[in-house]
Amino acid sequence: MRILTGVQPSGSLHWGNYFGAMKPIIDMQDKGEAFVFVAQYHALTTTHDAAKLRQATWDVALDFLACGLDPAKACLFRQADIPELHELAWLLSTVTPMGLLERCHSYKDKLARGIAASHGLFAYPVLMAADILAYQSDRVPVGRDQKQHVEVTRDIAAKFNQTFGAEVFKMPEPMISDSVAVIPGLDGQKMSKSYNNAIGLFEAPKEVKAKIMRIATDSTPLEAPKNPDACRVFALYKLFANEEELAEMRENYLRGGYGYGHAKKALFEICQRTFAPFRERRDYLAAHPDEVEDILRAGAKRARALAGETFAAARRAVGLD
Ligand code: TRP
Repeated sequence: MRILTGVQPSGSLHWGNYFGAMKPIIDMQDKGEAFVFVAQYHALTTTHDAAKLRQATWDVALDFLACGLDPAKACLFRQADIPELHELAWLLSTVTPMGLLERCHSYKDKLARGIAASHGLFAYPVLMAADILAYQSDRVPVGRDQKQHVEVTRDIAAKFNQTFGAEVFKMPEPMISDSVAVIPGLDGQKMSKSYNNAIGLFEAPKEVKAKIMRIATDSTPLEAPKNPDACRVFALYKLFANEEELAEMRENYLRGGYGYGHAKKALFEICQRTFAPFRERRDYLAAHPDEVEDILRAGAKRARALAGETFAAARRAVGLD
């Protein structure tokens, strides 16, 4: 089973990004043949700052490798290292009905947020279809907001195959992981940079500790039993804990004699235990850019060879060779 996903560079990671998006992608490497790329061309529909894009692209690669993406298992590459993608996107665009793109929520949402309606923004789903179809992907793990784009991809693939009477593309399935509930922030709302309630994955331990200590809790006295399911500290602890640790923490709350201060300390310890190795690996990679570059080039080579067959089949189907 081939699993493919693209990740737009979006600045420094917080816990919500990690548990909500990144970890599920990294876990894919043990479930099938995983392809993960940095979606630079898609980022260009909303960012026009060359230095920022360059840095953010690099950061995505470092973040994935630091957090456990194993280049021996998964193929990590930059979208822009596969220039033939644009030819495929063009071929697909010639069979894509305008109405299909006009109905895309993501496009309408972006306009509502004040993003300029460029042709690139409008054609975004066609380029995404090219990404998905080029590698003959079976499964596409995406956030709920991107599900429609995978459906559009299926429509475009079917239309192309039918128009040219050739089975050039495989039908991909979106993969939305339902187990990933909304990741709560320090204030109990969804964790988000814009709500100012996030904890950075690579933030210094001192700052992380200070943020955890500031999480508001109710005034149940230390001796009294507490409701774990109404506690923000517990909700965050849950992200890191294995079953046993979680059961034990639940028991601590219910038994009483266990204060929120204890729970905060436990949360700080477990998050440090989880992320310290990531931080170390990220520092190592940042100091060894040649190793990262080699990984990305090797990834692109493999991805490009695979996509080459699809590119050739598509050219053949439409009569370009
Ligand atoms: N549009 C996706 C997002 O913003 C990124 C993306 C680009 C993607 N190409 C893709 C995701 C192909 C999955 C498959 O999250």
